[in-house]
Amino acid sequence: MGVDFRYRRLGYLALNVSEIERSAAFATDVFGMDSAGEGEGGARFFRIAPWHHDVMLIPADKPGFVRSSWELESEEDLDRALSHYQRIGLSPQLIPQDEAAMLGLERAFRIVEPKLNTVWEYYARMSYSSVPLANKLTKFEGGKHYGAVVPDCKAVTDYMVEHMGFRVSDYLEGWKASLLRAWPNPNHHSFAPLQFPAPRPTFHHLAFMVQEIDDIGKLFNRIKRHDVQIQFGIGRHPTSGSIHLYIYDPDYFVWEYTLGMEQFPAEGAREPRRMSADPANFDLWDAVPETVHAAKFPPLVQG
Ligand SMILES: [Fe+2]
Repeated sequence: MGVDFRYRRLGYLALNVSEIERSAAFATDVFGMDSAGEGEGGARFFRIAPWHHDVMLIPADKPGFVRSSWELESEEDLDRALSHYQRIGLSPQLIPQDEAAMLGLERAFRIVEPKLNTVWEYYARMSYSSVPLANKLTKFEGGKHYGAVVPDCKAVTDYMVEHMGFRVSDYLEGWKASLLRAWPNPNHHSFAPLQFPAPRPTFHHLAFMVQEIDDIGKLFNRIKRHDVQIQFGIGRHPTSGSIHLYIYDPDYFVWEYTLGMEQFPAEGAREPRRMSADPANFDLWDAVPETVHAAKFPPLVQG
């Protein structure tokens, strides 16, 4: 736990998509986000809260994960994080001012972590919009997380705990999955490395916390009208206790609604639990993930 900076939250994810109009329609009409303008190269922003954006979709030849961006508590935390990553040799790069402005950020830097070679961005201040949200499909809670399929969950977990300021909330026996919180953010997990189902590093899912069970029930019926397929759910995770529904977007990115999540105090939190991997423990409502399309999960790293 050798970091001296504090996270506030997972700020946004950037994803390459193969047909921007189709993915934009999914984000607004199915998932219930607000369009929040355009960026460089035809990129589209989407938001569920007052801040500039929660997701950035970028037109590309092939779908793929681009980066995660993390909000720290203060500009001082950002300075400390920059020095920390310089110290451990990850050569953080400040992003140009015009790019930061396009992203609604005061300033930001990026690193490439050495375990998966994914890009991580850090900032402390994102533009706040006073314009009320217009999309009334869902009441979002504001919290987010994402999961990635990784070849070695234990190695990724150890690195993130040792060098990136994360803490383990729970893990699956054999370290086939771990659920990590971005300390001191109270959510049970903000990032989940999973050693299944694909044998290669892929994106797994991005999740948005919702306020009510109605939000999940309405999504369940809405996806039928939009011919959207379920990946997993409706079910209930035994770890965080959250109720979930995972669906596929047109590029086989998996998007999740999640309701209810154990909250952790910054200090004095419980120890991580070693969760049973027995199938009977997999889902409290006996939900089973669909695996037919797992081979189509977009890659974690381009190239
Ligand atoms: Fe999730």
